[in-house]
Amino acid sequence: MSPFSNSPGDLAVDCVRTLAPYVPGKPIEELQRELGLTDIIKLASNENPFGASPQALDAMQRAIADTWLYPDGSGHILKQKLAARLGVDSTQITLGNGSNDLLVMLAEAFLAPGLEAVYSQYAFAVYPIAVQATGATGVVTPANAPDAPMPLGHDLEAMARAITPRTRVVFIANPNNPTGTWVPAAPLKSFIAAAPRHTLIALDEAYFEYTGELGLQNGVEWLSEFPNLVVFRTFSKAYGLAGVRVGYAVSHPSVAGMLNRVRQAFNVSVIGLAGASAALDDTDHLATAVKVAVAERARVAARLGRAGTRVLPSAGNFLMLHAGANAKERFEVLLRRGIIVRPVGNYGLPEHLRVTLGTPEQNDRFLKAWEG
Ligand SMILES: Cc1ncc(COP(=O)(O)O)c(C=O)c1O
Repeated sequence: MSPFSNSPGDLAVDCVRTLAPYVPGKPIEELQRELGLTDIIKLASNENPFGASPQALDAMQRAIADTWLYPDGSGHILKQKLAARLGVDSTQITLGNGSNDLLVMLAEAFLAPGLEAVYSQYAFAVYPIAVQATGATGVVTPANAPDAPMPLGHDLEAMARAITPRTRVVFIANPNNPTGTWVPAAPLKSFIAAAPRHTLIALDEAYFEYTGELGLQNGVEWLSEFPNLVVFRTFSKAYGLAGVRVGYAVSHPSVAGMLNRVRQAFNVSVIGLAGASAALDDTDHLATAVKVAVAERARVAARLGRAGTRVLPSAGNFLMLHAGANAKERFEVLLRRGIIVRPVGNYGLPEHLRVTLGTPEQNDRFLKAWEG
């Protein structure tokens, strides 16, 4: 593109110009502006409807007084707490401005033009963005068939076949967003064990706290066995801190060292550090939020099933529904009733909608509107 173009954005590097940007859930304020509604519920971004722990809120309020200072760039206190909780060394932990930040750091540190990253069709949308922005090649493997036991989920055999000498990263979301599907511990372990050592396995456990009794592995427990494993977690979901942006990666210290080289020096804010640290102490708040979400997951899925709506199995705090050819219209009907869910056409799933599990009352309101 000519540097004299009228559109200076076209000067961006090819791999960025051709990127499809991330499409976030519709904010409540936007719907308020558009439709003049006041009583709106957002079930569109897999947030925790119970919010942050009161202890975290209190710590964040106190931290406001320190916001003229740069944060502790090493995140010492939070890392020590996480290390003790997870049974790892603090040199294995990297903090991020949300786990999204860490996924981008991993791509920056380990990918470049000529290298490849593998991820599944319908995998979390940040993987292709993070990969393509580095100029590396994203290799998308076909997802499980719609009638498979784990429909639209990651096909680990297809992913294993896609690994080449150029593959530096394989992304596995367990469970995956937006599908909610997961890979059980045994096949995942065989996959990681068989992966070549020149390939990092990025195991994204953003919804780990919600997985309950479904037989998913805690990836952190495998780190000593598999030095090429990197586990990603977040405070955005079960901890109810999406707005302050704190996530963490747990890895071999040498991988953490590389992430640290590309990490912005002060990537987690004073408020984020204080909130996440206090949230870790409030185990009761976490347990209640998770318990309700897990119970609601079963209840809402069963009721939708009875009403004839196909629902994918989910290990997260959300459900993926087959809404049919009129998914867009159904999305709009919900909007007019003040309920924001998430269309997933950008994932190549125009007939599906993703619904975050809210409070039982919010879910009832959604169900009522859905059943018409
Ligand atoms: C699978 C998965 N990974 C990572 C993230 C990023 O979350 P955050 O950056 O808020 O930690 C999300 C958010 O929706 C997600 O669904």
